[in-house]
Amino acid sequence: MPRKLTALSRRTFLSGISTWAALGRAAESPPASVLYRREPPPIASAADVFDVMGFEPLAQAALPPAHYGYIATGVDDNLTVARNHDAFGHYEIRARRFVDLTHLDTSCSVLGEAWATPLYLSAVSGMRAFHPDAEIAVGRAARSRKVRLMLSSGSSAPPADVAAAAGQALWQQIYPTDDWQVTRAMVQRAQEQGAAAIVLTVDAAATPRNNETLKRAMLADSRDCRACHKDNRHDMWLRAPLFSGLDVSRVTSLAPPDLTPAWLDKLRREVRVRLIVKGIVTGEDARLAVEHGADGVVVSNHGGRNEETLRATIDCVPEVASAVRGRVPVLVDGGIRRGTDVFKALALGASGVGIGRPQAWGLAAFGQPGVEAVLDILQRELQAIMRQAGTPSLKAISAAHLVRANG
Ligand SMILES: Cc1cc2nc3c(=O)[nH]c(=O)nc-3n(C[C@H](O)[C@H](O)[C@H](O)COP(=O)(O)O)c2cc1C
Repeated sequence: MPRKLTALSRRTFLSGISTWAALGRAAESPPASVLYRREPPPIASAADVFDVMGFEPLAQAALPPAHYGYIATGVDDNLTVARNHDAFGHYEIRARRFVDLTHLDTSCSVLGEAWATPLYLSAVSGMRAFHPDAEIAVGRAARSRKVRLMLSSGSSAPPADVAAAAGQALWQQIYPTDDWQVTRAMVQRAQEQGAAAIVLTVDAAATPRNNETLKRAMLADSRDCRACHKDNRHDMWLRAPLFSGLDVSRVTSLAPPDLTPAWLDKLRREVRVRLIVKGIVTGEDARLAVEHGADGVVVSNHGGRNEETLRATIDCVPEVASAVRGRVPVLVDGGIRRGTDVFKALALGASGVGIGRPQAWGLAAFGQPGVEAVLDILQRELQAIMRQAGTPSLKAISAAHLVRANG
């Protein structure tokens, strides 16, 4: 049966071609039905890529297996990675028609900062593994697209250089680490360098994470990687510029065993700028974070890279937003690949929406223009759905614009 179908399709195709040949002589332009069956031309620039997902295979082709594996990996079966994006399908958009859309505005205010878009670039470590221009290229893209940048503590470029490239005071992400002196020194250093906020990531794995996809990719990589990677599993981290000159000999983990509310209080006493807590997935922890000094929370499961919960971040947003009760902004990241994903996150109570892997894909494939293209696509798609849903501003986007999908 399938063979018959294939033969039928082929016949239809061939008859299309002969029709085109006949028409071509008359009109000199093939009918669209034939044109669309041709192989698309190869992608030559970031502008040729249709959607954010289109950058992933290009990044894979551009990178050695282990570096691509580092971006792609989740833990165990990568089911949380997949759920993060798939869960956006749980929500459908209720589009309203009779609205004045003469002016469409994606600007917003987050922690007193004026943002042109609710999109921001979330922390991604070690970007020199993806492109020689690394975080500098990402910083330049943030500047040209007027997007907030959250810089990883594992940035391969010095934070001060990234801040200069980005033209903004950074949101500096840090890990708590199990050596308080090192953690404290990082906070002090970031503040001395003018960081606008410290982002504390609270979902780091205390034990080595089971990132099987990365491990498999490393086996498939025949290069000798010892020049960059030494034995210590934190080696890459501890050699990042933010740690330079610090005595890191006692750091054994990026997460202390006693990350309690009292630990948050201790950190809060060191932080003179905004403190944002990243890695929250429950209302209870959101409430604790706010009660212990957080100026903002990020609903995040680290892009499914640290624990296989099977729970998508978008499904955590409503309970976090309701626990926080508007006292601080709620940001979210994880699986954002379409403008409609951004729209849905805002409708469920988020004030800002972060991207992780897509910026790494864009960077690996095309450098700065790749990151810019990823941001442009998401922004364009967000504007399109805002227009279609009858929401001229971000404030107009509400829970009334969503309905839970059946099944
Ligand atoms: C390669 C890679 C490195 C990352 N490094 C960090 C990091 O240093 N600090 C951090 O808080 N989150 C880090 N993250 C997590 C992101 O900030 C973000 O939470 C996550 O990637 C969002 O999911 P998405 O990749 O599906 O967009 C990293 C993610 C990736 C893919």
